[in-house]
Amino acid sequence: MGFELTLEARDGSRHHVYFDPLTSECVGLPLRIEPRAFAPVSRVAKDKPLGKSRAPRVLKIQLGMACNYACAYCNQAVQIGDATVSKLADVEAFLAGLEDWIEGAPGRIELWGGEPFLYWSKIKRLVPALAGRFPGARFSTITNGSLLDREKIDFIAAHDIAITISHDGPGQHLRGPDPLDDPEQRRWIEALLAERPEKTGFNAVLTRQHHDLRVLKTWFAENVGPDIFVGLEGVVNVYDVATAIGTGRFEPAELNSLTRSIFEALVEDPNAFGLGERINEFFASIQRRRPIDALGQKCGMDNPDAIAVDLLGNVMTCQNTGAKEVHKIGHIADFDAIALDTATHFAFRNECMSCPAVQLCKGSCMFLEGEFFKQSCANEFAFNMGIMMAAVWHLTGMVVVGVEHTGRAGLDGSAARLDGMAQAPGP
Ligand SMILES: C[S@@+](CC[C@H](N)C(=O)[O-])C[C@H]1O[C@@H](n2cnc3c(N)ncnc32)[C@H](O)[C@@H]1O
Ligand code: SF4
Ligand code: SF4
Repeated sequence: MGFELTLEARDGSRHHVYFDPLTSECVGLPLRIEPRAFAPVSRVAKDKPLGKSRAPRVLKIQLGMACNYACAYCNQAVQIGDATVSKLADVEAFLAGLEDWIEGAPGRIELWGGEPFLYWSKIKRLVPALAGRFPGARFSTITNGSLLDREKIDFIAAHDIAITISHDGPGQHLRGPDPLDDPEQRRWIEALLAERPEKTGFNAVLTRQHHDLRVLKTWFAENVGPDIFVGLEGVVNVYDVATAIGTGRFEPAELNSLTRSIFEALVEDPNAFGLGERINEFFASIQRRRPIDALGQKCGMDNPDAIAVDLLGNVMTCQNTGAKEVHKIGHIADFDAIALDTATHFAFRNECMSCPAVQLCKGSCMFLEGEFFKQSCANEFAFNMGIMMAAVWHLTGMVVVGVEHTGRAGLDGSAARLDGMAQAPGP
């Protein structure tokens, strides 16, 4: 399967690049090709469940899903009722039980809410014990930033916990109150940024209402500081009806402006919002000829090396799902029976296997289905095409103005979805 990308130069001349996202073969981009051998990954499907490794590289601990915010697009909103509720005593049992199932040491331990700092007493008990047990592990958490104080910052520093503060800048009103408007909350956010600049950053979600990266950048520069790191959690994915008809529903013209905004931001700064990594990964995929069968899902939770557990020992599809219903995929007490059977690897989705952006997108969320998947896919496509366009621009100085399927039929929509790109402004 291949695509012909039409590129437009400054003088209006048109050029063509051939690209096959299934093999990463590419003709027409000035990249040195040095093919490497890639091992295929296991592909999960409901009828092809995957287990988990007893020696996970990434351990995600779901502390609970309670939250003091109610963000319009929260991917956990529909899961809250399915989340288990645990007591401080459960932390002791969790720690004592580690012996029985975990081998080796995870490289990364992530603490997840809800709002993780609502679970402060659990964090205080868990982290020192885990750090003692796994001295090389790096800790991190994502927070809405509203519950920091001196004690927490000192603890964060003592245990070198990387902190990501979710904040949508001009779109923060879609998330709830702005902690930066509260003098006390702002004070602690600023203290954390000042004391741990390397290990603290913001992360924004792009929504229908707010996806102009220039506006986002200016907002943070003016409201926090010019050198503050703002990454992108990505574009909003759709998990519930409210998001499907609200923040997650981009009109076609808005999808085009999302693509254009990503493209323009990356033309101006090839590492804008930390997206330089994605551009480099795209280049590397072509240079090394990374085949599609070497690619796992975007979130990494299809990998047996990544496991999400709650404090009762339940294992879930991911940290954003609750263990009381379908997303409970097992229990650490019966480790070999853990079966991720709630997800679909993108290889089993026709649209992904005929998508020019699949090497960048990696299939969106693996457990979404139906209309919610379709909408999330449309948003991801627009987002990732912006990255691809910028990658091509940095190599050629030309703008991608069209993408045509050259091989098999079946790419309904992709060419059409790019129609608006003909108007993408040049560099
Ligand atoms: C579910 S929250 C939990 C942690 C914490 N309460 C927070 O908001 O940072 C984890 C991350 O997912 C992001 N998120 C929530 N819903 C999302 C969605 N529908 N699409 C994309 N990202 C989403 C949030 O902005 C946040 O960065
Ligand atoms: S995104 Fe985070 S802060 Fe917002 S409601 Fe969900 S869990 Fe709470
Ligand atoms: S943009 Fe859509 S079709 Fe393409 S890989 Fe992502 S989810 Fe699949």
